[in-house]
Amino acid sequence: MAVATAVAHPNIALVKYWGKRDIPLNLPAVPSLSLTLDRYTTTTTVHWGNVSEDSVWVDGQAAAPAFRKRALHFLSVLDARRPSCRIETTNNFPTAAGLASSSSGFAALALAALAASGRSMTPAEASVLARQGSGSACRSLWGGFVGWSMGIRPDGTDCHGYPISRPDHWDVAMVMAIVSSDKKSIGSTQAMIRTAETSPLYLPFVEQARDDVIRATQAIKDRNLDTLGTIMESSTFKMHASMHAAVPPVMYWKPATVACIQTVLSLREAGISAYLTMDAGPNVKVLCLQREAQAVQAALLHHVEHCEILKPGGDPTVTIHE
Ligand code: DP6
Repeated sequence: MAVATAVAHPNIALVKYWGKRDIPLNLPAVPSLSLTLDRYTTTTTVHWGNVSEDSVWVDGQAAAPAFRKRALHFLSVLDARRPSCRIETTNNFPTAAGLASSSSGFAALALAALAASGRSMTPAEASVLARQGSGSACRSLWGGFVGWSMGIRPDGTDCHGYPISRPDHWDVAMVMAIVSSDKKSIGSTQAMIRTAETSPLYLPFVEQARDDVIRATQAIKDRNLDTLGTIMESSTFKMHASMHAAVPPVMYWKPATVACIQTVLSLREAGISAYLTMDAGPNVKVLCLQREAQAVQAALLHHVEHCEILKPGGDPTVTIHE
């Protein structure tokens, strides 16, 4: 029984995951594709045994009951007969605010738990495990551009991420306009279930996802930003339109979200190749070339107080302490 620490980066979907064909296993209704970010990290330490009771700590404080339950249940998925465990986790960026903290969170927890419990798994097997904590986490097992295939097996053992391109393949940036760091009003799991059950616009999103992933993958290989950006915006707006048409509507946008969207469209009219995406929150993330990122950031700072430039990030890391 040992102690291990894993550090993982969040990923931002360029072709979106929204909806599940199996809720407990987090098997997606669609394939998706993402970019892992640098600088933002989740650092998670797992003590596997040698503690008197289960405990979960977030930024040095006892975790909220819902997260505590979710994190401990995840360890029991790995090993139903596990010993008592201690989990300590910290993010260097806002949690549960649409900045993909659950992706880095469950990737780091999976890797720390595997190492602390003395198990060795391939990245694909670890991705299958991370997926069961949060779907998008299965893509944070790799740096750079990463896909997530749906698989066909009912037990989900073939449903995991796969690397597409290393972080240094392409000098793109993701400019993050932080409209709000508040926790989201409705979590992504509940929001995607409601969308799938009630929205008449959900089916077109599902039907086009496979083609979006195929074309986006080729655009990454070709380093074609205009094609990739167009596919990313289309996937984003299909996802959000389907949320808006849910009953009751799922609406994450704030006035500054719309101002940022309009800014990106104006930047393109001015000749800058900048394309936007949004997740389960009001923040706007803009994909552009690194050499144009500061101009994009300056334009977005008219509408938000915080706007950060991130680049493609690397693989997660694991350290075993004892
Ligand atoms: C909008 O991975 O947070 O960010 O599987 O229920 O934990 P669960 O959902 P989660 O959903 C992420 C949705 C998204 C799009 C994406 O990351 O592909």
